Amino acid sequence: MRLGVLVSGRGSNLEAVLAARPPGIEPVVVISNRPQVRALSVAAAHGLPARVMRRADFDGDARARDAAIGEALTAAGAELALLAGYDQVLQPSYFAAFQGRTINIHPSLLPAHGGAGMLGAAVHRSVLDAGDTETGATVHEVTPEMDAGPILASARVPVLPGDDAETLAARVLAEEHRLLVATLAAIAASWIGAALDSGRDAADQGPGRAGVGEPEAC
Ligand code: GAR
Repeated sequence: MRLGVLVSGRGSNLEAVLAARPPGIEPVVVISNRPQVRALSVAAAHGLPARVMRRADFDGDARARDAAIGEALTAAGAELALLAGYDQVLQPSYFAAFQGRTINIHPSLLPAHGGAGMLGAAVHRSVLDAGDTETGATVHEVTPEMDAGPILASARVPVLPGDDAETLAARVLAEEHRLLVATLAAIAASWIGAALDSGRDAADQGPGRAGVGEPEAC
């Protein structure tokens, strides 16, 4: 499954994926909305093509930029896109331009501490301010409504006495990396399984129906 990754900053989730190489996942492109961020160095260190697509490059028009991001993913052959610390809400133009699924990793147990402004340290401050004793990480499908797409996987992390946003973020981040790699492997496995099943179904229908088993389909 060919993977495109959208980033904005540090890139530790990108790094975890590139280091682990989840089975069935082939990273093909990294796109950043910010220049000179660490995530771009991570991509370069792994020999992965990277592009910077700033809103300013599109006359400040987020819709045009997001359409271009979708087109760039499509041109790279991406079948799945991952938001790994991407700090922008994607416009409907993105979803029109990129037909694959898009997933996001979020550093809380959604739907708690999600939505507008809930990015990085702000999420952990919100958890501590609420007095929660448990937090975690969530991988969910991205839809035009922020942090509201179907939840694919989550992992729980305790909030410990004396935690501040920094200590909590570090504990959650370690779990994010593990969860993200495992979830990508599971998505690739089910995607490959579905492809095999549809091939078998098509073959069961016999020659002249869905293509599998016909010389021109090979
Ligand atoms: C990660 O904690 C990620 O979950 C969070 O930003 C951080 C990026 O770190 N994303 C969000 O808060 C999305 N709402 P990274 O650049 O080192 O992967």
